[in-house]
Amino acid sequence: MKNWMMLLGVLTVIVLIVSAVLPDDALGAGKGNERKGKYFFKKVCKECHGQDGSAAELTPMSKTAAQWEAFFAAGKHGDKALSEVVEEENIVHIEAFLVNHAADSDQPETCG
Ligand code: HEC
Repeated sequence: MKNWMMLLGVLTVIVLIVSAVLPDDALGAGKGNERKGKYFFKKVCKECHGQDGSAAELTPMSKTAAQWEAFFAAGKHGDKALSEVVEEENIVHIEAFLVNHAADSDQPETCG
């Protein structure tokens, strides 16, 4: 009986650890962290792609997951490299945010 309780305890701890670690990887596009992505999307992209910005308004819902993936795979922003618009290291996070909340995702997001 004691062993059984102990096993249950160990299993619970494992499940807790796995669920704490998984979300970013399991749901995310690659190694991006969508919370960071949301922050940088708002800070960098929304500067121009916000309601009063100089470019067309963009939210995660502006595209499907496949369309966002294609955009990031191309790595282009107009005729420049995307890394000229935002620091290279933050691109993967922005991608995770946009893909995870795209128009056809489980949790589409209009803000951002
Ligand atoms: C300095 C201003 C500026 C910043 C910052 C900026 N963009 Fe743009 N972006 C533009 C302009 C201008 C265009 C082309 C005209 C348009 O779409 O309004 C454009 C076009 C785009 C397009 C193509 C339009 C479409 O509907 O497919 C996408 C996608 C895009 N930007 C995404 C981003 C993302 C993601 C970021 C942040 C990493 C970003 N942009 C940051 C100005 C900016």
